[in-house]
Amino acid sequence: MSEAKIPAPHGAAARRGPFRVGDRVQLTDEKHRINTITLQNGGEFHTHKGVLPHEAIIGLPEGSVIENIDGFRYQALRPLAKDFVLSMPRGATVVYPKDAAQIVQFGDIFPGARVVEAGVGSGALSISLLRAVGDGGFLHSFERREEFADIARGNVSTVFGGDHPSWQISIGDFQDKVVELEEPGSVDRVVLDMLSPWECLDAVATVLAPGGVWTNYVSSVTQMSRVVEAIRASGQFTEPECFETLVRGWHVDGLAVRPDHRMVAHTAFLITCRRLADSADGIPKAKRIKDHSYSAEDLSAWTKDHDEEEWTAEALGERGISDKKLRRAARDAHQAVRVRDAQDSETDSED
Ligand SMILES: C[S@@+](CC[C@H](N)C(=O)[O-])C[C@H]1O[C@@H](n2cnc3c(N)ncnc32)[C@H](O)[C@@H]1O
Repeated sequence: MSEAKIPAPHGAAARRGPFRVGDRVQLTDEKHRINTITLQNGGEFHTHKGVLPHEAIIGLPEGSVIENIDGFRYQALRPLAKDFVLSMPRGATVVYPKDAAQIVQFGDIFPGARVVEAGVGSGALSISLLRAVGDGGFLHSFERREEFADIARGNVSTVFGGDHPSWQISIGDFQDKVVELEEPGSVDRVVLDMLSPWECLDAVATVLAPGGVWTNYVSSVTQMSRVVEAIRASGQFTEPECFETLVRGWHVDGLAVRPDHRMVAHTAFLITCRRLADSADGIPKAKRIKDHSYSAEDLSAWTKDHDEEEWTAEALGERGISDKKLRRAARDAHQAVRVRDAQDSETDSED
């Protein structure tokens, strides 16, 4: 097939060409402060350094340097996906780009894969998974809270310039819904980012194809321990692998070359394992501690005989979000899509 006949993957067009109405634009000023705006007909960007009309940006190529009416300069670029997820409206905590990259690699998310994920939260990980499965794949995302799913829909539409044809969100608890909606053994990859992934073990074992990869993203050591022990005890998966990713930026300036003083030290742990064939007996870890020196009481603090009600977001140190903030995040998440739709209907009525 000649290059001209290959259809552009979904969302590619929105990332190319001159700036258009509805685009999100990252403006970096002379002090390297970053602001992100959505281009609108008649829109203006105001700071104490003056006013920058959106018309001065629309139609320019990416990477242009633009002066506001007082001569203050801004470098204009479309945010990369990694920039977008850190600044996008959010309800729940997002998967950081450094971890999303690892999930795609160690979770082996391939073009054309059938992937299920939960929860959707703000849709940060969904964006990476959709980019990895591509137009020929399928991402089925499960979220128990409609308000979060709504924010995620807005964020995903902003990145891909509209609905993604390979994406479906289902509302409800993953462990109940996935077995209703996915055929047994039909899913290539499962990715869970939630408080209690061990509650989903039977559902994952049902829908995941033999050899399929299950990736868990959990923020605390107690969750990691509990999910690993549950996976081992089930005997349906390979020995889990656990790791975290630390990314340290560097300051490079002449002879002053050193690591940055500050970094995001902890986000979460990743746990991966693979589904064994139903007929297979798992090969247990070679060396396990034989004589436990810890008390049953200590162990029960993170095993299943512990009171389920104590595994709350607050107990694990996660902050909640008010209804007011959730409503504002949903409105902001759909802003780019609203502006783009308004522009499209304006263009249609002119034609
Ligand atoms: C930390 S957030 C996910 C963030 C998301 N991965 C992102 O990158 O934006 C966790 C989400 O899981 C959802 N959740 C928790 N348990 C669930 C379950 N059993 N089924 C479906 N969703 C669940 C919560 O409502 C919450 O939105």
